[in-house]
This record gives sequence, C-alpha cells and structure tokens, in this order.
Amino acid sequence: MSERPQWGNKLGIILAVAGSAVGLGNFLRFPVQAAQNGGGAFMIPYFISFLLLGIPLMWIEWAIGRHGGLFGHGSAPFILNRLWRNRIVKYLGVIGIFGPTVIFIYYTYIESWLLGYAFFALTGKLLAVATPEGMKGFLTAYQGLASGSNLLTAYFFFVVTFAVNFFFLYRGVAGGIERLCKVAMPILLAFGLIIAVRVLTLPHITDGLGFLWNPDFSVLWSAKVWLAAAGQIFFTLSVGIGVILTYASYLKRGDDVTLSGLTAAGTNEFAEVILGGSIVIPAAFVFLGVAGATAAAQSGAFNLGFVTMPLIFGQIPLGAVFALLWFSLLFLAGITSSVSLAEPAVAFVSDEFGLDRRRAVLRLGVILFILCQFPIFFLGQGVVDELDFWGGTFCLVLFGTIETVLFVWVFGIEKAWEEIHHGAEMRIPGFYKPIIKYVTPLFLFFVLGFWFLQQGLPVIMMDGVQEANKPYVLATRLGLIALFVVIAILVRIAWYRKKALGQIK
Ligand code: PFF
Repeated sequence: MSERPQWGNKLGIILAVAGSAVGLGNFLRFPVQAAQNGGGAFMIPYFISFLLLGIPLMWIEWAIGRHGGLFGHGSAPFILNRLWRNRIVKYLGVIGIFGPTVIFIYYTYIESWLLGYAFFALTGKLLAVATPEGMKGFLTAYQGLASGSNLLTAYFFFVVTFAVNFFFLYRGVAGGIERLCKVAMPILLAFGLIIAVRVLTLPHITDGLGFLWNPDFSVLWSAKVWLAAAGQIFFTLSVGIGVILTYASYLKRGDDVTLSGLTAAGTNEFAEVILGGSIVIPAAFVFLGVAGATAAAQSGAFNLGFVTMPLIFGQIPLGAVFALLWFSLLFLAGITSSVSLAEPAVAFVSDEFGLDRRRAVLRLGVILFILCQFPIFFLGQGVVDELDFWGGTFCLVLFGTIETVLFVWVFGIEKAWEEIHHGAEMRIPGFYKPIIKYVTPLFLFFVLGFWFLQQGLPVIMMDGVQEANKPYVLATRLGLIALFVVIAILVRIAWYRKKALGQIK
C-alpha cells in the first residue's frame, strides 16, 4: 500500500473544506432559493436545517472520514464498511463516489463559462453588450445554442478549466488542493467583500435588501420551502455526498474535528448569507425594480449570474473592473469545489487499487474528460438539469441519510460521540447528542419522504420535460445507471483484490 497523503496543517484542511463548500451555490443558487421561497422567512427553515442537518452532518462526515483514513481508506464504500462489516454496505457506499463524479461532470463545465466570462470582461467585449436581449444572446451564443453559433470558445475555456483542475489534483493533497485553497479562498472572500460593499452603497439599496429579506411567513406551512431549505444546506455545505469523507480521511488520528468542522461551516455561511445574500438580488432590484428583480429571480441562477449581473456592471462606474472581480470570484469559488468533487474517485483508485496518486489522477482525467463531453454537447437537451437532479439533489439526501444511520445507529451513538470528540478542541454541547441520535435522522427521513413524493416522482415521470428532450433525458438516465454499475463492479473487484492481499478483515 502506498503512503496515504496528509494535509499540511489545520488551516489547510479548514480552507480545503470551506473551499469545497463555498461555490457557485453560495452566490447564485442561494439568493434565488431565498427569493423564490419566502425571502426573510426562508431563513427560518434554512437555519433550522443548518443546525439540525448541516452541522451534525459536518461533524459526522469529518469523524467517519478520519476513522476510515486510519485504516487506509478514503472513499465511501470502504469507509462505511469500517462502520458496519456487512456485505452490502460497500455498495451503498458506491453513491459516495458516483454522486460527486456526476456533479463534477456538469459543474466543471459551468465553472469554465466563468473563466470565459472573466476573459470577456477583461477584453471589454462583455460590457459592450447593453440590452437584456443582447446579453441573453451573448450567453446562448457562448453555449453554442444560438443559431449560427459554435462551441469553439466555450470548448477552449472548458479544456483550460479542466486542465487547471487536474493540475492541482495531480500535485496532490497538501501540494495541490491545499495550496490552491490557501491562495484562492482569501482572494475570493476579498473579491466578494468588495462587490458586496459596492452593491450595498448603491442608492436605494435598502429597498433592494427589503425586497429579498422581507419575510412572508405564510410559506412556512409549505413542505416545498422546507425541502428547498434542506436541499440548499446539503448542496452549499458539500455534505451528504462523500466529498468531506474523503477530505477528512487525510486527517491524522489526533486532529480536531469539532471546531474545525464548525469553522469551515461558519465560513461557508458567511460567504452565503452575508455575501451571497447581498449581491445579486438586491442589485437586480435597484436596477430593475420589483417586476424586473422578480422576473430575474424566477429565470434562475444562470440568468442572474451571466445576464443580469453583467448588465448591471455595464451601468456603474468602473463596471469592467467589477465584472472581472465577479467572474473571477465565481471561478475561484468553482474550482475549489470541483477539485473536491473529483477527489473521492482519486482516493478510491489510489487507495484500493494501490495505484500511485499521479497515475490514478491521469487515468481518471481521461475518463472524466470523456464524461464531461455530454453536458457540453447536449446542454440544450436538458442533460445538465438531469445530472443536477440525480447528483446534486437525490444522492445528497440519500447518502446523507445512509451515513447518519450507519454512524449513529449501527456504529452506535456512544462510540460515535467519542469518535467525534477524539482530539477535539471544543466539546459539543450535550444537547446535541440526542439531536444527532434522533432529530437528525428523523428530519432526514422526513425530507427524503416528502422530497420523493413532491419532487422525485414528477421528475422520474419526466413531468415538465419537453417532448423533444425526453429521449436525451432517458439516455442520460441509462448512462447514469451504467456509470453506477461500473463503479459498483470496480468496488467489488477492489474488494476481492484487497481480501486476497489480506488487507481486509
Ligand atoms: N458546495 C458547492 C457549492 O455551494 O457550489 C457545490 C458542491 C461541491 C456540492 C462539492 C457538493 C460537493 F460535494
């Protein structure tokens, strides 16, 4: 077995986890979710989900990951098997490699648009567009969806983005990912602060903040709003998917979990609520008024980020500089997340097949590059939405529930509590113990059940998918099933290989 990598220091792992958490979700997804789900009132289910799901899952994943790392395992199938020696558990763990891989496939492509847009902000081409129709046209032309447009530019920036991701993955955990996050996180937080201050000093901004944050308490009776809040907490914190398990597997036995996990989660919330909540929607309100901001929020996160924001920057002094800061900020937020999404697969191949990291990264690079072609060439056919649904929503809630039940109920709450506190720099208040034991799993089951009935079934039945796109959506599903089966087979092969080597049981 090759030596497993380790983080350089505590700040490094905190920034790496915070880097994974702070992403496009904070600056684009969160404000749209809040605007569409009751404004200020959304913060009630949001914070309840943060306290009852987000924080417990952070601690649980850090603790399980560090535990698995002690036995040389960094990916979910083998880590979960340490909690419960059972023949099927490793196949449940397949979700913890499959899910991040699926998100990586589309996330990296969208991240590459940000690099392209940062470039066009720099050259002045972006802000030369002054009308909403023009800016929408710019985006569809960039995506190769407008008639007469092609994908050459987008493809170029995708290749660069992909290469940069793999450069850092290739350099390793401390030498690549940790270094990237130590540089990118302070820069992106600084850029975010600058843009937030600029937006908060716009005239009439209090009305813009009021528009986003005025609470509509009637929404609290709607299950949809609670699901949206819980889903946002999962996505934004990067929990429930296997990524933090892998990052935590590079901790040392005595490393702290409680305070570090809390610090990473707190950093994410600052970037999300304070920065993310002050930028796109309030700015859209100031420039577009109630009707315009409502329409912008309803048109979704991409429109706000790639159409509304550049139009706004075109109207303020030094707009080009702010546009450059905005897209660079999002690109940095994106890349520190996308490297984390590739890491579970890297850890699986190198830990379980004994391949040295660099060879594992190169091989996976080829495979992931091929898989990334689907969202690029079939964006207009609904492939990204489909991948986002299965990877970015379904797998998160499902895997989050599985790991919580395994840790708290199978491994046992007493051992779990002890494991979380090993080397801890902060004791978790005692009332959290029953929360983690009862409330978190119950809450998860409710979310899973309601979510399945309200959103899962309609999506599975393809309600709302355009007729012409249905064959592509179906093909994507078959592709995803095939990917899942391939990973499961690889897990099985690795399992018997390790058994034959006497490294398991
Ligand atoms: N947390 C990231 C964001 O807010 O954009 C997205 C993400 C990264 C989700 C890594 C899941 C994950 F494992």
